[in-house]
Amino acid sequence: MSKVFQATASAPVNIACIKYWGKRDTKLILPTNSSLSVTLSQDHLRSTTTSRADPSFAEDTLWLNGKLDEIKPGGRLATCISEMKRLRKELEDANPNAEKFSHWRVHICSHNNFPTAAGLASSASGFAALVYSLAKLYQLPASPKELSLIARQGSGSACRSLLGGFVAWREGAAADGSDSFAEQIASEADWPAMHALVCVVSDDKKDTSSTAGMQRTVETSALFSQRLTVVPERMRAITKAIQNRDFDTFAAITMKDSNQFHAVALDTDPPIFYMNDVSRAIITVVTEYNRVALEKCGKRKAAYTFDAGPNAVIYAPRENMKEIIELIVSYFPQESFNDPFQLFKSAAVQGRRMDG
Ligand code: ADP
Ligand code: DP6
Ligand code: CO
Repeated sequence: MSKVFQATASAPVNIACIKYWGKRDTKLILPTNSSLSVTLSQDHLRSTTTSRADPSFAEDTLWLNGKLDEIKPGGRLATCISEMKRLRKELEDANPNAEKFSHWRVHICSHNNFPTAAGLASSASGFAALVYSLAKLYQLPASPKELSLIARQGSGSACRSLLGGFVAWREGAAADGSDSFAEQIASEADWPAMHALVCVVSDDKKDTSSTAGMQRTVETSALFSQRLTVVPERMRAITKAIQNRDFDTFAAITMKDSNQFHAVALDTDPPIFYMNDVSRAIITVVTEYNRVALEKCGKRKAAYTFDAGPNAVIYAPRENMKEIIELIVSYFPQESFNDPFQLFKSAAVQGRRMDG
C-alpha cells in the first residue's frame, strides 16, 4: 500500500470592528481599506478542516459540511490549494530528502460548527482552516504572515483569522499584494477583559454574498468613497484605544463603523439590507444601555457590530456581560436554553432565532 498524508487544523472566526468592504483587485483580493478585528478564542464558532494527499486521487475535491463543493478552475479555492502546493514543491526542490507529493491531488473535508454564509464570518474561519490544514499536510515552515497572504486570496477576512487577539489587515500598496497581510496589534492577554456575545438572530444563508455585495457597492455607491476618507483615522484611533484598554473609545468607533458600513450597503444600487428588525432592536437596546451608562459614569459599557448579515456581536468588558445578557434575554425571550448565553469570550446562541 502506498503512503498517504493527512492533517487536520481548526480556525476561529474573527469579527471586524473596522469593516473590510470593497476590493481594488478582485482576483488577488486586495482591499480598498485597512480593517481591524477581534479573533474569537472560544470553540463556539470554528471551522475544522482535514486535508489528505493520496496518489490515487483523481482530482482535488472539497466537502463542506458534508456536501461536495465545486472547486472552479482559477477560483479562490483553486488558488489557495495551488499556492500551498507551490510552497510544498519549493520545499521538495530545496531538500532532496523530502518526500515528493506536491503533485498529488488532495481531498479536503471541512465542517463549520455554526451557520455558514449567514454573516458570522464562515468564509474567514473556513479559508483560514483550509490554508492552515494544507500547511500542516505539507509540513511547511510558513509564518502566520505568509499563510495570511494566501488565505487572503480565498476570502479577504480569512487573512485575519490566522492570528489571535486584535488583528489589523493592512490594505498595502503593492500591485502584487505582497504587503496586504494581517498582523496582531495586541494579544488576547493584553486585554483579557474584552468579551464578545454572539446573538444569532437568524441562521439563514444571506441573499447577497459578501463578495457580490461589496463589488456592487464599489460600482454604485457614492457614499462609499466618503467612507474611504474616514477609515485611516479610525484605524489609528481604535488601535490606540485597544493598546490603552480604553473601552469607551473602542465602543464608539466600533458602533460608528458598523453603522457606516450598513449605510454604504443601503446606498448600493440595488440596495442591500443585511440587518433586519431584530438587529435594529438590538441597536436600540444597546444604545439605551449606553445612554444610562454615559449619564451615570460618562462611559459606554457595550458595543454592537453587525457583519454582512442580521446577527449581532456585542463586545463588552466581561464585568458587564451578565447585565447585558439579562437585558437581551428580557427583550428577546428564548423558549429554552441548553447552552445559554455564556459569560465567555464568544458566547454563541447557536441556531437559536431571536425573533421574540
Ligand atoms: P460569511 O458571512 O459566512 O463569511 P460569505 O458570503 O462571506 O459569508 O462566505 C460564505 C462562503 O464561504 C460559503 O458559501 C463558502 O463558499 C465559503 N466557506 C464557508 N465555510 C467554509 C469552509 N469551512 N471551508 C471552505 N469554504 C468555506
Ligand atoms: C462585512 O471576507 O467575506 O464581514 O473577500 O469577498 O470573501 P470576500 O469577503 P469577506 O467580507 C467580509 C465583510 C465583513 C467585514 C469584515 O469582516 O471585515
Ligand atoms: Co465572509
